[in-house]
Amino acid sequence: MSLAPDDTWLPRYHVTADRNWLNDPNGPIHVDGRYHLFFQANPAAPEWGPPHWGHVSSTDLVTWTRHPVALAPGPDPDAPDRDGCWSGCARIVDGRPTIYYTGVVGDGDERVESICRAVGSADLKEWTKDPDNPLVAGPPAPLGSGYHRDPFLWRDDDGWHLLLGSGTIGPDRHGTVLVYHSPDARSWTYGGVFFEAPRHLDGTDLGEHWECPQLLRFDDGDVLVLSAQDPHAPHPLMHAVYFVGKAAEGRFDGQLGGRLDGGDAWYAPAATVDAGGRTLIWGWIQEHLPPETQRRLPRVGALSLPRVATLTDGALTTVPAPELDRLRTGPPLAGPVTVHGHSHLLPAHDHGQLEVTARISGEAGTARWELGPGLAVAVDLDRHRFTLTTPHGHHHAGIGHRPLTEAELRIFLDGTICEVHLADQASLTARCYPPSAGRGPITALAGPAVEAAACTVWRLAGALP
Ligand code: FRU
Repeated sequence: MSLAPDDTWLPRYHVTADRNWLNDPNGPIHVDGRYHLFFQANPAAPEWGPPHWGHVSSTDLVTWTRHPVALAPGPDPDAPDRDGCWSGCARIVDGRPTIYYTGVVGDGDERVESICRAVGSADLKEWTKDPDNPLVAGPPAPLGSGYHRDPFLWRDDDGWHLLLGSGTIGPDRHGTVLVYHSPDARSWTYGGVFFEAPRHLDGTDLGEHWECPQLLRFDDGDVLVLSAQDPHAPHPLMHAVYFVGKAAEGRFDGQLGGRLDGGDAWYAPAATVDAGGRTLIWGWIQEHLPPETQRRLPRVGALSLPRVATLTDGALTTVPAPELDRLRTGPPLAGPVTVHGHSHLLPAHDHGQLEVTARISGEAGTARWELGPGLAVAVDLDRHRFTLTTPHGHHHAGIGHRPLTEAELRIFLDGTICEVHLADQASLTARCYPPSAGRGPITALAGPAVEAAACTVWRLAGALP
């Protein structure tokens, strides 16, 4: 397969940097009716490099406006963020927008990850770094591990609390979350290990350290979201998992819930609660390209669509934010039809930005969508599996052992991005190189005991200038 990127590869309605590199979503926050979303950016090259904080905002979660870079490393050679402003969060502290981020100096074993902050103007466009940075200089003495990053803050009746992703060292490497406490969100006291778990649990590999901890609080319990990593594994491990339980008195106690997305391209999620009380979560959709091909892309990496997270019957489920319906342009390209046996939905076409929707009901059998060369989505009720197949891989997630009733399927295709959701069941995000969707044809197949109703193909608009 020749990999020659062209314009059809570029996402148009997922957020990307205006040029070059993007990784984690950072600091989502809803202020005065506007959603602000930051992200790890390397404006200088289409590869990971000294991280800055890029910035976009939106009033509707659909159309985004670009803003100047919010945070840049240094520039003072003695600055605690000389070599990077790594991930973190944004909060309103004493009435002012405030970013907490990881300041980085050095590289490899010599790298120091400290906790820094910057205070924003009322419109969140100008950021002034705290002259007292770093607020926490590096890992607490008893720890030894260098991982000490990605601050996540919240406030309780007893003051402010800050979580960091970390990991143990030695033969039994595993992830940990550390906690700090503060009366004023400025001076911090180390409070020990908030949560840890063995590397392998219930058949899930939880990596050798954890990044980007997020504590989501629901009426029925707390959810700790972790990005599990092992950069040394033969196939580098990177996936987001969650635990459901309770955070109290500086500790979290909970059970593994599973992965948040069964694909291989959704990582380092960041969440916020908006003014309407919804928990929204975004992930980083990474590329899986050889470096020489990646360097030929003008924009590398994207943020996922915003997902609304809920805790139902002890499971965290996410669905695309309902606002995203507004990405649809004009009448459907095909449908709505009820799929009987084998239905041709769309002949060969050149649309790179599509959504395919359907409502699935049934107790047995499989419904399947063929979306282009090597690209397919299936709901398999016999094996309780939701599957996304691309030319490079097979991604799947379990679905509940009960009959499905009108479960909404949404397949989002945007250049090389495939983001698919089966409501209240599972999400799968992966890349497809080259984009198959822009070729079609699109067909759907449904077995006799499964109904795929209202199957529709929509053309979607771009969301960023
Ligand atoms: C996650 C991560 C974070 C870190 C950032 C650096 O992808 O490794 O832990 O802060 O990326 O860009």
